[in-house]
Amino acid sequence: MNRSLALATRPAPLTELSMPVPAEIHPKSLLALPPGEAKQSLLTVHSILEARLPAGPLSIYEAGGGSTSYLPLGVLRRSHVTVVDIDADQIRNNSYAQEAILGDIQTHRFPPQRFDLIICYNVIEHIPDVEAVLSGFCEALKPNGLLLIGAPNPKSLSGIVTKYSPHWFHVWFYRHVRGEKHAGLPGEAPFPTHFHPLVTLGNLEAFAAGRGLQVIYRKKYESPRYPEMRRRKPLLAAMIDAGAKTINALLPGKIDVRHGDYHVILRKLGS
Ligand SMILES: C[S@@+](CC[C@H](N)C(=O)[O-])C[C@H]1O[C@@H](n2cnc3c(N)ncnc32)[C@H](O)[C@@H]1O
Repeated sequence: MNRSLALATRPAPLTELSMPVPAEIHPKSLLALPPGEAKQSLLTVHSILEARLPAGPLSIYEAGGGSTSYLPLGVLRRSHVTVVDIDADQIRNNSYAQEAILGDIQTHRFPPQRFDLIICYNVIEHIPDVEAVLSGFCEALKPNGLLLIGAPNPKSLSGIVTKYSPHWFHVWFYRHVRGEKHAGLPGEAPFPTHFHPLVTLGNLEAFAAGRGLQVIYRKKYESPRYPEMRRRKPLLAAMIDAGAKTINALLPGKIDVRHGDYHVILRKLGS
C-alpha cells in the first residue's frame, strides 16, 4: 500500500520549463564540491546525462531527493522533477522540484514507464530494503531510461568507518571536522545509515544486470571529504592520508582505500 502523502504539488507549465532557471536552483552540489575526483566524476556524469537523455521535456524522479539537486542545469531547465523523501523538513527545503512527495521510496510506487531519469544520490546507504527500491526504479523507468546512483563505497576506508561507527560519531565528524554546525538537527545530514549489501558496487551491478539494466558509466573516486579535510584540518588529513597510503601498499592489486564514493549510471534495456 502506498502510504505517501503528497505535501506539495507545483505544476510547471512547459513555457515555464523553457525559461531561464533562477539562480537559487543552481546545483549547489557542484558548487559545494572541492576540486578533485568527485567533482570531476560529477562533471562526467553531467556530460553523459546531457548526451544520452532524449531532447525535449523530461520526466525525472529524485528518490530521497532531499533539498540538493545533482542534475546539470541544462537538464533541470527542461524537466518536470518529482521528489520523494521521507523527511518532511527535507521536502520543505526543496526548492527545485515541481512535485514534492513525503513518502518512503521502498514502498512508494509510480505508474510503470513514467520516467526518463531516476536519480538516487547519497540515499541507498540509508535504506534497509534496497532491493525493493531498485525494483520500483526498474518498473518506473521508461525503456532506455537512465538511473543515476551516487553512494559511498562500503569497501573503502571511509565506508568501513561509517558502516561500523555509531551515528553520534557521524554527527560529531560533520560538526567538528566538516564544520557543519547544524549537523544532526531535524532535516540536516548526517542521516542514519544501514549499508544493505546492494550498496556494494559489485553486488549492485550484478543485481542490475539481472533486471535488464546496463552499466553505461561507473566510477569509484576519492571521497570529497579528503580534499575538504586537507583544507580545513591539514594535520588530521596528513595522518589519514599516511594511514591510507600504508593500507594501500599492504593490499594486493591497485586498490585506493580513499575511493570512498562511486557514481553509476544504468540504462534500462528495451525499445
Ligand atoms: C544524505 S541525504 C541525501 C539527499 C540528497 N539526495 C543529496 O544528495 O543531497 C539522504 C536523504 O534520503 C532520505 N531518505 C532516507 N530514507 C528514505 C526513505 N526510506 N524514503 C525516502 N527518502 C529517504 C533522507 O530523508 C534524506 O533526505
